[in-house]
Amino acid sequence: MEQSRAIHVGIIMDGNGRWATRQGRSRSAGHRAGAAMVRRIVEAAPDLGVGVLTLYAFSADNWRRPRTEIGWLMRLFREYLRIETPRCAADGVRLDVIGRRDRISPALRQAIEDAQRATAGGTRLHLRIALDYSSRDAILRAAQCLRPETVPSRESFARLLAIVDHGAPAPEVDLLIRTGGERRLSDFLLWEAAYAELYFTPLMWPEFGPDELGRAVREFGSRERRFGGLTDAAAG
Ligand code: IPE
Ligand code: IPE
Ligand code: MG
Repeated sequence: MEQSRAIHVGIIMDGNGRWATRQGRSRSAGHRAGAAMVRRIVEAAPDLGVGVLTLYAFSADNWRRPRTEIGWLMRLFREYLRIETPRCAADGVRLDVIGRRDRISPALRQAIEDAQRATAGGTRLHLRIALDYSSRDAILRAAQCLRPETVPSRESFARLLAIVDHGAPAPEVDLLIRTGGERRLSDFLLWEAAYAELYFTPLMWPEFGPDELGRAVREFGSRERRFGGLTDAAAG
């Protein structure tokens, strides 16, 4: 379904590990299947009326995982960027990676910088991948940049939030999806999703295909957003 306005969708891509374990496969196989699903979702998003897509790939707290799993994930991110950067550039997808850069390997940092540079002109979709990301840490870093005794506007603070995380400014999140059955935000886009519509699905991330994204976007279209006001009918 085509929205009248392109929307910002955020996705907490959870459930790779459980999906793989249920099939008797390794968690790394689950992450690989998850990366394949990212490709399909990115491809489908613009035609579903999505203008900005922010995907939670690795949280700042995911460093608590076993070193071997982290190693697999980091390799997968590099491989994803190597393969997808030219495709994004050709398809008009602007690729940003948001999150900290000082704890990842120099090779991954370089791949991120190359991807951002090569895709900067894309206008069909703004794809933001959150890697070593913590929303609370971003808010703290943005607060540190403020001038004393000035209260910024919400808009200028939102711009600052994107900048401290190395991304281009993006509008607020309209629809926030979490796969994997949990109903929590796990430190994702806490400021940006202040009025987002929430959509939780028991499907694991490798099961969440373009049809499922279409379903979520359609449900979003049927929700009534009031932003604290009243509906036209109630206002009289
Ligand atoms: C999400 O899947 C991907 C990352 C957090 C990197 P998980 O790895 O959290 O999968 P589950 O939740 O253990 O199934
Ligand atoms: C959230 O999933 C982070 C990502 C999807 C990248 P987690 O699996 O890390 O979240 P918790 O630990 O269940 O809250
Ligand atoms: Mg998880």
